[in-house]
Amino acid sequence: MDQKYMNLALNLALKGEGHVSPNPLVGAVVVKNNKIIGKGYHKIFGGPHAEVYALDQAGEDAKGATIYVTLEPCSHQGKTPPCVNKIKKMGIKKCVIGTLDPNPLVSGKGKKILEDAGIEVVVGVLEKEAKNLNKVFFKYIQTKKPYLFLKCAITLDGKIATNSKDSKWITNELAREKVQRLRNKYSGIMVGINTLINDNPRLTARVENGINPFRIVIDPYLKTPLNSNFINMDDGKSIIVTSKNNIIDYKKIEIFDKIRDLTHPDTIEEINHIKKLEKNSKLCKLLADFEEINQSKEFKNIKKLNTLERLHGLNNDELSKLVDEEKYYRLQIIRKIDLLEKKFNFNKLKNIHSKTEELKKKNIKFIYLDGYDFSVDEILDEIGKLNIDSVLLEGGSFLISKAFSENRIDGGEIFIAPKILGGGLPFIDGFNFKTIKEGFNLENVKYNIFQDNISVEFDQKK
Ligand SMILES: NC(=O)c1ccc[n+]([C@@H]2O[C@H](COP(=O)([O-])OP(=O)(O)OC[C@H]3O[C@@H](n4cnc5c(N)ncnc54)[C@H](OP(=O)(O)O)[C@@H]3O)[C@@H](O)[C@H]2O)c1
Repeated sequence: MDQKYMNLALNLALKGEGHVSPNPLVGAVVVKNNKIIGKGYHKIFGGPHAEVYALDQAGEDAKGATIYVTLEPCSHQGKTPPCVNKIKKMGIKKCVIGTLDPNPLVSGKGKKILEDAGIEVVVGVLEKEAKNLNKVFFKYIQTKKPYLFLKCAITLDGKIATNSKDSKWITNELAREKVQRLRNKYSGIMVGINTLINDNPRLTARVENGINPFRIVIDPYLKTPLNSNFINMDDGKSIIVTSKNNIIDYKKIEIFDKIRDLTHPDTIEEINHIKKLEKNSKLCKLLADFEEINQSKEFKNIKKLNTLERLHGLNNDELSKLVDEEKYYRLQIIRKIDLLEKKFNFNKLKNIHSKTEELKKKNIKFIYLDGYDFSVDEILDEIGKLNIDSVLLEGGSFLISKAFSENRIDGGEIFIAPKILGGGLPFIDGFNFKTIKEGFNLENVKYNIFQDNISVEFDQKK
């Protein structure tokens, strides 16, 4: 009997899917004399807990009844008062719990309070199912890293696109509808930059009352096109994971521009003249970086030479000597600037800076990481800091392979269509095992049928 009511509570909990994150999915049923007198589930993040709905529905009849709840009732004041207080107050006689709270700080506390109040407590009815229901919540609360779920549509020979990068559509409409439901289930969707450029996906959850997930692109070189759907969703939920090297200190560029403006010669004749002068010079000393230029004697001299007072009252000979001197200094600086331009690629930096400004105007968020090759683990750490508890990984091949090779996938669903491409982009590549035994093992495998397509759902064995 306990299993029957717990099963009902588990099904109720599922109704909150897509709406309660980062809170857990919870269902509750109140039963008296084998009759259900109250039902409830956690409907929305920050809203009343499942037990509250079920107990309110039961009303005074709750006295002496049994409550079935999929997760240990909370014992602490959060956004709502502790559920254990309400269970005690309503006179519940027995509490059947699917699984204890995974949060080590509170685990077992709710159970103890109920027991201390003389309520009979049973833990572990359909425990595996109860834990399974909240895989996302369990992982996030214990590791602060989001649960990573792979979604992929492949041909029978394991390809996700042709060699010319065509990938629409591999699977049928029914299978694609399921993908929309997955997008509603997880808090974020992540893709690599090639997928964003090739497919220009909207990465939204197109289901009734669906909540759009956060969209995350891994784009170390900031190639994301400004006219892509990703950039133009206007909801503040698009995130670019890029290199810290793309954080540009614009002050440096400004100084550089100023120096260049001040020192740029006007004509070819001038340049040739300067070159001639420079040949005889022993003063040629190259500076290592433009901050030094700013401080350099040449730069200071040019500024000095350019003051009107300095020129006032000089005869023609003196003036022409000065002009030559100035041109000489200018040439020195031009050469240094050329070198620096090569070293720092200022034009590229300027482009990155102005693109970043455009993206910020469009409310795009950034996660900055070291270098240009990010481990999936560090990506997940940073995403987790934004309270995103789960991520649907939608490809492409590069990112999927990286996540697999680091053993970061928690679970997934691979949709398979009865097509064969021969050549094309494999859905996973880049690592090898010597023996079949060593390969990644998938567990809790489930098969679903979508007309002539199938999907394989799995957890990745850790
Ligand atoms: N059938 C399906 O379900 C499906 C789903 C998605 C995509 N696709 C197809 O897959 C193709 C794209 O796959 P793909 O393998 O070429 O590319 P991808 O995985 O979409 O993007 C790869 C690029 O993203 C960046 N990147 C990804 N992970 C990174 C990391 N951990 N650290 C640093 N940079 C990272 C790198 O950019 P840089 O090169 O700038 O360094 C890398 O070259 C498209 O044709 C698309 O249509 C099919």
